[in-house]
Amino acid sequence: MRTTLRDIARLHAEGTRFTMVTAYDYTSARIAERAGIPLLLVGDSLGMVVQGHDSTLPVAVDDIVHHSQAVVRGCETPLVVGDLPFLSYATRRDAVHAARRIMGEGGCGSVKLEGGRTVARTVRLLVESGVPVMGHLGFTPQSQHQIGVRVQGRDAAAARALVRDALALQDAGAWAIVLELVPASLAREITELLSIPTIGIGAGAHCSGEVQVWHDVLGLFDAHVPKHTRRFANLGDDAVDALRELSAQVAAGAFPGPENCSDVDPGVLAEVMREVGP
Ligand code: KIV
Repeated sequence: MRTTLRDIARLHAEGTRFTMVTAYDYTSARIAERAGIPLLLVGDSLGMVVQGHDSTLPVAVDDIVHHSQAVVRGCETPLVVGDLPFLSYATRRDAVHAARRIMGEGGCGSVKLEGGRTVARTVRLLVESGVPVMGHLGFTPQSQHQIGVRVQGRDAAAARALVRDALALQDAGAWAIVLELVPASLAREITELLSIPTIGIGAGAHCSGEVQVWHDVLGLFDAHVPKHTRRFANLGDDAVDALRELSAQVAAGAFPGPENCSDVDPGVLAEVMREVGP
C-alpha cells in the first residue's frame, strides 16, 4: 500500500519528522523503499544530476514522466511526487495538461511546483481537479536567473513575502510545502504557523520533514559538498574503487572465475570441433 497524504498528515500531527529523497530510476526507488523512506521526489534536479545540465531549466514534462514511470515501478510503498518542470505551468491550462501526464502516465501521487501567491490560483485549480499539490518556496531553482542561487527571506520584506506565500499556498489547498534555502528561524516560524507540513532543504532542523538530493547524501559526486547537505556514504568513491578492482582483475585473468562461467559437456565439444575444425 502506498503512503497517502493522510499518512504524511498523521506523521505531521504526531510531530514525527519524515524524510523525502529524490529518486530518478527503478533501482534507487527500490533502495529507498528498503530504507523505509515514505516520500520520493522525481525532482527536476534530474536535469543536473542525471542529464548533466547546469540548471533545472532544460527538463521537460516528458523527462519527469519517463523517470517517474521507472521510480513507480521500483517501489510499492513510498508516495511518489513528480516535479512540474520549468514553464510547464505557465498557464493553468498547461498546468492541468502537465499534471495529467505526470500523474496519469508517470504514475505519481502528487505534483510539486515552485512559487507562492503567483501560482496560488493554479494550485487551487489543480487541487479542485483532484491533483495533490506540494508547494516549493524560498530558493526556487526554476527562477534562479531572477532571484540568484542564495538563501531567501533574509530581510524583512523578503521574509514577509515568504510567510504570505506559504499562507497562500496552504489556503489554495497545497498539502505540503518545500522550504529551500530559508533561514532556519524563519522556516521554524512558518512551520509553526501552518497546519500543513513543511519539508526543508537548507532550512534548518525545525521543518516537519527534510528533503535531500540522492546524489548529495550518498556521495555520488566528487565536487564539493553543499552546506545544506551531508554525505551519509561515499558511493562515488566506492564505485571508482570497485571499477578499478574489476579492471585489475580482468587484466590479471582473475575475473571471471570458474564460478562465473558455465560449461559444455567435453564429449559434445570435442565432437563439434572435430566436425567444424580444420
Ligand atoms: O528537484 C529537486 O530535487 C527539488 C528538491 C531540491 C526539493 O526540487
